[in-house]
Amino acid sequence: MTNPSLLILAGDGIGPEVMTEVRKVIDWYGAKRDLAFDVSEDLVGGCAYDAHGTPLTDETMAKAQEADAVLLGAVGGPAYDDLDFSLKPERGLLRLRKEMDLYANLRPAQCFDALADFSSLKADIVGGLDIMIVRELTSGVYFGEPRGIHKEGNERVGINTQRYTESEIARVARSAFELARKRDNKVCSMEKANVMESGVLWRQVVTEIHAAEYPDVELSHMYADAGAMQLTRWPKQFDVIVTDNLFGDLLSDLAAMLTGSLGMLPSASLGAPMANGRPKALYEPVHGSAPDITGQGKANPIACILSFAMALRYSFDKGDEATRLEQAVEAVLADGLRTADLIGEEGRDPVSTSEMGDAIVAKLDASL
Ligand code: IPM
Ligand code: MG
Repeated sequence: MTNPSLLILAGDGIGPEVMTEVRKVIDWYGAKRDLAFDVSEDLVGGCAYDAHGTPLTDETMAKAQEADAVLLGAVGGPAYDDLDFSLKPERGLLRLRKEMDLYANLRPAQCFDALADFSSLKADIVGGLDIMIVRELTSGVYFGEPRGIHKEGNERVGINTQRYTESEIARVARSAFELARKRDNKVCSMEKANVMESGVLWRQVVTEIHAAEYPDVELSHMYADAGAMQLTRWPKQFDVIVTDNLFGDLLSDLAAMLTGSLGMLPSASLGAPMANGRPKALYEPVHGSAPDITGQGKANPIACILSFAMALRYSFDKGDEATRLEQAVEAVLADGLRTADLIGEEGRDPVSTSEMGDAIVAKLDASL
């Protein structure tokens, strides 16, 4: 039997640094758990633009379509700010999402006990927090037509279109309900049905899918602005939140920061099953390319390492091994190891990116 294939797109900024640590973890699973992957690497984002004049070549796109899973670091940087919109590093990522049809973006916001004091909220409000945001990722205002900037009379007009079809809403709603059944069995759907027709349809379709297929799951609805408010007021009321592309972008950053650990949070973007039964999938940290700290050994590799844990769980059906990796991360934090982003008032000395990676691999060893 051939090994499952992993395409690594480390990208820009701290992407390559954190990916080096993920490689240590991947190698560990090959050596110690008989779980070897066929790993290949390619370019996305600014580095792809530098090499090929485009943030994602057709060849790389084709490789991503073939891979059993794609692992992405981060894209973007100030060097690319003035590029034409169609050539910006972010377009590479958006093309991957769209062409692989990765419609369900899973963004867990989990508060690690050792870091509860790090949140801007009180520790008792965030301690033990564990919510899952399911963000629709391939439609909505990110991709709707018409779009662009054009001239009307004497002035320019910028246009984007929020558009959702029934089937687009239904499939992401199903993803959310399925996940809820494996968690606390609650879904809260967020839109702006009070001002947007797309929100009215969103609410109708989610309600219909719920009644027909998931009546056992508890469903509630909130306007997205009220949802943002409730997320900061009492985040533990939520289990799974399902929402559209733009609201999901905003709410997932908000939820991530609640945990005090933006540098710690992974994500999975999943599409329909491939011929081998695995979903089309891309895994990436929620954080960006952090150009301000690039190349200084300051980056926190945990979000990217936990993204690989999500790959073990959702692409390779190795939930036990994913848990092993998550526990290794928790154990390292409990020991007090902190990368520079996690140093608050305490005045400890930070560990470097590679020291953090090594410590996690040592905990994996200790778990055997
Ligand atoms: C995210 C990012 C992206 C988005 C950018 C980099 C295109 O903010 O993944 O949340 O807006 O979706
Ligand atoms: Mg975002």
